[in-house]
Amino acid sequence: MNNIILIGFMGCGKTSVGIRLSYKVKMTFFDTDKLIENKEKTSITEIFATKGEAEFRNMENLCIKDLLKEKSNHVISVGGGLPIQEQNRALLQELGTVIYLKANVDTIYERVKHDTARPLLQGEDPKGKIAELLAKRENIYETVADYIVVVDGKNFGEILGEIVDLVPQ
Ligand code: S3P
Repeated sequence: MNNIILIGFMGCGKTSVGIRLSYKVKMTFFDTDKLIENKEKTSITEIFATKGEAEFRNMENLCIKDLLKEKSNHVISVGGGLPIQEQNRALLQELGTVIYLKANVDTIYERVKHDTARPLLQGEDPKGKIAELLAKRENIYETVADYIVVVDGKNFGEILGEIVDLVPQ
């Protein structure tokens, strides 16, 4: 399918880049976290607190399957943990061109340090948690991706320019 899928760690800019990209390429934007929140009529934080992470991961899997049934010609940003579930990886590749927005620990920490909406980063040492999770995930993001765009130190214009050059028009 001809969607553009943005993957990457929390805070790498999937949503902010995705919205701008959708204007630029004139495609509609979807975000899996938002789709899940709308369907469940509650926040990601509440879902983690009341139903637990495993249930949230099931919701992500259903969300990707739903997108595969109906969505073509969209920019879709997916939650940072979604590609980590093995059963989602082939589905993502089927859904469209997968772009990994690659950010380092410092970039991510600067962007999420005041954030309260990401349950996995609410502990004592968010920077340590980012480093630990990123080390586990980075290889998976790179394997799933058709293309990698490094975002550290770049502005939106530069990132969008790189993506537009990569995706089939
Ligand atoms: C998560 C990333 C979040 C959200 C949830 C879990 C993760 O999405 O799905 O808090 O496991 O990396 P963003 O990557 O959009 O922040």
